[in-house]
Amino acid sequence: MDTKIQTSTRCLDKKAVKIYPDQEAASVYVAQRIAQMIIQRQREGKQAVLGLATGKTPIRVYAELIRLHREEGLSFANVVTFNLDEYYPIVPTHEQSYVHFMHRHLFDHVDILHSHIHIPDGTLSPEIIQEYCISYDRKIEEYGGLDLQLLGIGRTGHIGFNEPGSAPDSTTRLVDLSEITRSDAIDDFGGEDKVPRQAITMGVQSILKAREIIFLAWEKRKAEIVRKALEGEVGEKVPATYLQNLPQVEYVLDKEAASMLQRQEWSDR
Ligand code: F6R
Repeated sequence: MDTKIQTSTRCLDKKAVKIYPDQEAASVYVAQRIAQMIIQRQREGKQAVLGLATGKTPIRVYAELIRLHREEGLSFANVVTFNLDEYYPIVPTHEQSYVHFMHRHLFDHVDILHSHIHIPDGTLSPEIIQEYCISYDRKIEEYGGLDLQLLGIGRTGHIGFNEPGSAPDSTTRLVDLSEITRSDAIDDFGGEDKVPRQAITMGVQSILKAREIIFLAWEKRKAEIVRKALEGEVGEKVPATYLQNLPQVEYVLDKEAASMLQRQEWSDR
């Protein structure tokens, strides 16, 4: 642990929670974790299979990965990625598509092979979506499963776009977005009527199968839902609660996102 930045770490009921002073320090830590995993897999002559998230939260993590590529020679040649979700319907060239996001914030700046990138396709006709979703999960399995999954959390408690009501055994599928999630996207899309009503998301089960999961949350606006996710009753009302007590989950928070946690054991506050 880097003592200079005064992280506090506690491990309780199998939960590993790291609380950083700010998202900058937290993001550098997460990028290091990912880089170490990529390098370890390179040494073994294997591919690193990453589950990736979009949204504001991981942007700084991706920026640090780009820096490690440019300045420290981190190669993504052995990296295979599966993104969590994509709006539906949406074309990849749309500024708000997650294809566009991933290329802008990571893929266009590193040496990843295009054939290694997987992002749910927002252009499919409705009748083939179900088959496509089954094949998305199957492809993850064909690569040997996800080595590491990055997760953010929405204000509804969603992980991926698994909104409240999602079952723990849900797989990749087409879902309706909640009104809260849609309203959070209004500014980005430039109007309520322009925000898609649906999305294709990896399922809860697909996510929980990852061998390592890093859950990220920053800023005060996430504090209330972070408290529910970590300390609330496990169930479909807050899908992020399904992560509780899984040994492979690490929660990485900044102080503000952690500020409403009530169990003193999480930190030295
Ligand atoms: C995005 C995703 C979502 C976001 C969540 C938080 O791929 O799966 O679950 O992680 O909506 O979004 P931000 O980071 O914008 O607050």
